[in-house]
Amino acid sequence: MNPSNPANFQGKHALVLGVANERSIAWSIAKTLAGAGATVTLTYQGERIRAKVEELASSLPNGKALPCDVQDDQQMDELFEELRNDPDRKTIDALVHSVAFALKEELEGRFVLTSRKGFLLAHEISVYSLIALARRAETLMPHGASILTLSYLGAERAIPNYNVMGVAKAALEASVRYLAADLGPHRIRINAISAGPINTLAARGIRGFTEMLQYVREKAPLKRNVTQQEVADTALFLLSPLAGGITGEVLHVDAGFNIQGM
Ligand SMILES: NC(=O)c1ccc[n+]([C@@H]2O[C@H](COP(=O)([O-])OP(=O)(O)OC[C@H]3O[C@@H](n4cnc5c(N)ncnc54)[C@H](O)[C@@H]3O)[C@@H](O)[C@H]2O)c1
Repeated sequence: MNPSNPANFQGKHALVLGVANERSIAWSIAKTLAGAGATVTLTYQGERIRAKVEELASSLPNGKALPCDVQDDQQMDELFEELRNDPDRKTIDALVHSVAFALKEELEGRFVLTSRKGFLLAHEISVYSLIALARRAETLMPHGASILTLSYLGAERAIPNYNVMGVAKAALEASVRYLAADLGPHRIRINAISAGPINTLAARGIRGFTEMLQYVREKAPLKRNVTQQEVADTALFLLSPLAGGITGEVLHVDAGFNIQGM
């Protein structure tokens, strides 16, 4: 990439949470950031996906994978301590939060049946984690650093079966605005991408997901679904100085689906 291009990440470090496999939106973002010159650190949640995420990290120049379950404060502390002590990673120029979880039984049927346990779990993993990570990352972030999270239209509209995750995404988008207000004076930006449906591990947990993809293909202005790469390209823009004047924003990358009335 041309060194004078504002989206050049040469000499910059990006921390990317939320890679589970090659289909993960976070993986497309990680590859795109690496392609723009960034040193990338991936994290993995638990031993189950460790080998896969380590393999993906090793395919990136100077890539590294570290453990981080966002439900575990100690693991989060250890992650940032490890980064602080690594000369290539001691500053974080870009942080990508691409993490969400809800119990399978909460992603089908009636929203009114949401359990207390399911509500709290979805919010802890999918929303509180952004705040917990931003607080830790802030100390390693230079002026001009940027944070990005992933949301979905279910934050704004009642989408069948999305249920508690829609409420969590609404809280996530509100958290983006509050964090933007807090971090702005430190010249740190934070934004969200509201992505259209994409076939990933997490998405397949939502009942009727295939029909969602089909519905968007039929109704969206662009008459198709979006790709991981289109989300990643927008991520690169939002994380780069090209978006230097944008913070607290939720940008739809959804083939225009959200603008449709009838
Ligand atoms: N796929 C879609 O249609 C779509 C659309 C809009 C938004 N999103 C959002 O994009 C983000 C990424 O999802 P994806 O679709 O790439 O699926 P994915 O399954 O590939 O990614 C979800 C990630 O969350 C991680 N995770 C879950 N619990 C965790 C925990 N306790 N600690 C650390 N990590 C944990 C998983 O390990 C996984 O890597 C999510 O926030 C999702 O809601 C997805």
